Amino acid sequence: MSSRLEAEHLYKVFGRRQNEAVERLRQGADREELRADGTTAAVIDASFTVEPGQIFVVMGLSGSGKSTLLRMLNGLLEPTAGHVRFDGQDLTELGAADLRAVRSRKISMVFQHFALFPHRSVRENAAYGLEVQGVPRAEREKRADEALALCGLAGWEKSWPDELSGGMQQRVGLARALATDADLLLMDESFSALDPLIRRDMQDQLLELQKTLKKTIVFITHDLNEAMRLGDSIAVMRDGRIVQIGSAEDILMRPADDYVASFTQDVDRSRVLTAGAVMDTAVRGDEADCGCETATPGTPFVELCALSARLTHPVAVLDEQRELVGVVPRQRVLDFLADGASDAVPCDAPRDGQVIAHA
Ligand SMILES: Nc1ncnc2c1ncn2[C@@H]1O[C@H](COP(=O)(O)OP(=O)(O)OP(=O)(O)O)[C@@H](O)[C@H]1O
Ligand SMILES: [Mg+2]
Repeated sequence: MSSRLEAEHLYKVFGRRQNEAVERLRQGADREELRADGTTAAVIDASFTVEPGQIFVVMGLSGSGKSTLLRMLNGLLEPTAGHVRFDGQDLTELGAADLRAVRSRKISMVFQHFALFPHRSVRENAAYGLEVQGVPRAEREKRADEALALCGLAGWEKSWPDELSGGMQQRVGLARALATDADLLLMDESFSALDPLIRRDMQDQLLELQKTLKKTIVFITHDLNEAMRLGDSIAVMRDGRIVQIGSAEDILMRPADDYVASFTQDVDRSRVLTAGAVMDTAVRGDEADCGCETATPGTPFVELCALSARLTHPVAVLDEQRELVGVVPRQRVLDFLADGASDAVPCDAPRDGQVIAHA
């Protein structure tokens, strides 16, 4: 199966002599050198692929080029060089009308401050994308109501936006994007304006929705904890360039450079790591029958730590077919607890008979 979305050597330069700037960047010039000439290299040589159903997170500091990259993915900005392919179709080669059609039917954007129309009901707001597509009223209201229900807003269809809290308004934005049936959701700091508890709630809701909807999502954030919770794959941007692409574990355990590592200092490792990321894979098959505790590769490492008080054997990690795929040695759990993360880890002795849950 081909990738759903593909960015190939994308560049976006603002200001003077853009093509010349791209040439200089290709030869290794950086942002600072170009800035002296009044040219901004917003995105430099960005390449990645996003598979169907994946959440691809782009993170980086303010000004690193995230929003510019996102706007090239739906054709709102034309790349100075490079290509964007969506389902194999090169967006950079489409005419304006075709591009508009792709953008309104297949791609939806959710922004940080979602502007709802104050004099339209919640339902009409959620149906807006469908209205733009020319979908008849009865059908668009039905689909809007379904999307609102998915986002936990059933019963609010006839309310006005100002009757909703900030978090609920943001959900209307999400519902608007979902109602259009777009396969590709582009989310630019969509949850950043929400307070922390509601933000976490929205993250959970998105992950829950994603289990059934299986959209392809590009999610921008400057928050690494959010990136790690949501991202199947995470790209870290610095000064216009993608400096690392990897899983949460890759970023956390194998940061490409000091810049990436500096992001990871504040991350609550216990919530990100899984048994699969820390297990030893060179194991003998018969250890599965040792009567020890078992986990799946997706079991949060924090759950292993909860058992640490009475662990005597390694934890066996079993896949869906209950084949042994690795073990987590007891010492690794203890080392981890000693490594400063213990505050976040509940390490009381577990209740009798507790066995690590299978996913
Ligand atoms: N239309 C524009 N014209 C000129 N420069 C621009 C334009 N849009 C963005 N830039 C510049 O490109 C760089 C990247 O901006 P961008 O908005 O993509 O960053 P970002 O990572 O989304 O930042 P933030 O986290 O603050 O949203 C910045 O230096 C910005 O000033
Ligand atoms: Mg931005």
